[in-house]
Amino acid sequence: MASDAVTLIKNDHRLMKELFAQLKHGDENRRALVAEIEARLSAHARAEETEVYPIIAKATGEKADLEHGTYEHLEAEHKLRKVRNLIDSPHFDQALEEFVAAVEHHMEEEESELLPALEKATDKKTLDRLGATFERARIDELSTSGYEQPPGTARHDTDDLANATRDELYEKAQKASIPGRSHMRKEDLIEALRDQT
Ligand SMILES: [Fe+2]
Ligand SMILES: [Fe+2]
Repeated sequence: MASDAVTLIKNDHRLMKELFAQLKHGDENRRALVAEIEARLSAHARAEETEVYPIIAKATGEKADLEHGTYEHLEAEHKLRKVRNLIDSPHFDQALEEFVAAVEHHMEEEESELLPALEKATDKKTLDRLGATFERARIDELSTSGYEQPPGTARHDTDDLANATRDELYEKAQKASIPGRSHMRKEDLIEALRDQT
């Protein structure tokens, strides 16, 4: 599995876009999806701000774009709180629309400007190392939010599912079209995937 920072960040963007689509189509539990998006978005943003943005600033000598990126993280989180507060309101769709537009704009800027600048200024080894640091910070944030267990807590079990991260399990569940997967915790995903076999 690719582990460089650029691929990991783009993969996480894609996963969040998939959650936005599910929320838009309303085919899953709205409250659970919003909670999952809040946890994932904050973890992703904090990991970028603490681990990735400083490396980009150092490598490119450019700070303005990163300050802009950090501002957009806060803006997205603010818009998402609005979405959560309007969960039972007729204004929900409008708030969701605004949130998704803001985040997609931000992801687009990262993918077309910041990440290519990072790739250009560093080498493969640095990108791999940064990928590991980003992922560790992101998972730590997720576990602090109470959303996800840190990887390895169920390592006494030796099969592949027990050793997978929640993201890997989620991807498997997606491929297997397991309903309700987005609001499942790691243990639930393992159980549902085991039931499939
Ligand atoms: Fe970002
Ligand atoms: Fe990002």
